[in-house]
Amino acid sequence: MSKGFFIVFEGPDGSGKSTQSELLYKKLSADGYSCVKTEEPGGTLEGEKIRDLLLNPVFNLCPKAELFLFLADRSEHVNRIIYPELNDGKIVICSRYIYSTLVYQGFARKIVEIEFLKKINMFAVNDIVPNIVFYLDIIPEKGLSKAKKNTFKKYYFQGGDRIEMEGISFQHRVREGYLSLASQYSSIFTLIKCDRSIQEINNNIYNLTKRRLKNDRNGKNRKGQNKR
Ligand code: TMP
Repeated sequence: MSKGFFIVFEGPDGSGKSTQSELLYKKLSADGYSCVKTEEPGGTLEGEKIRDLLLNPVFNLCPKAELFLFLADRSEHVNRIIYPELNDGKIVICSRYIYSTLVYQGFARKIVEIEFLKKINMFAVNDIVPNIVFYLDIIPEKGLSKAKKNTFKKYYFQGGDRIEMEGISFQHRVREGYLSLASQYSSIFTLIKCDRSIQEINNNIYNLTKRRLKNDRNGKNRKGQNKR
């Protein structure tokens, strides 16, 4: 069992994961917690290269190659960043994790059954699972238009990145996938509705995190977490 606390943000494109991770990171750091903020894909130097291969629309990947590249990025990320930082007692805040693969490559792309994806993901991450997952729930139409604006500068492409280019019905399957995971993993998933201001959402997430950290310190929610 590792000593740290692992927080994951999940949600469809444009749901505000980066903004909310950053705000939580700042507040917890100001409270004196030792925190690390990271993301997938691209949380390591090697991962940044993989991220470009995965998301830059100039590349064309077959579905299985896409799946294995997300897993390669995640395996590198867990072994090089997430596990060592948790083992060092840090709070790790990560935008996207295994649930993104279950939803995007499983529910939306339908590459292979979800149970198989769960197994290879656990193999890739040495069974490291988060203490808490904040699922940011947004209407796909709203999220996708926000996401495309963010990626426009990077890829100089109005259609967004390679995954965002899949369009609105893909994003609807993504959301359905997340809602299904939220009930399957109800002990760690917390659904956060994104029809409020950024600040209200942040206050909600911060209060929930502080409560969990307090319980965690009292030794209540530690059993079986972050196993390696
Ligand atoms: P983002 O980090 O800016 O959200 O972009 C990552 C994109 O990659 C997003 O469209 C979701 C997608 N993705 C997958 O399809 N599978 C995965 O396992 C991960 C981590 C991301």
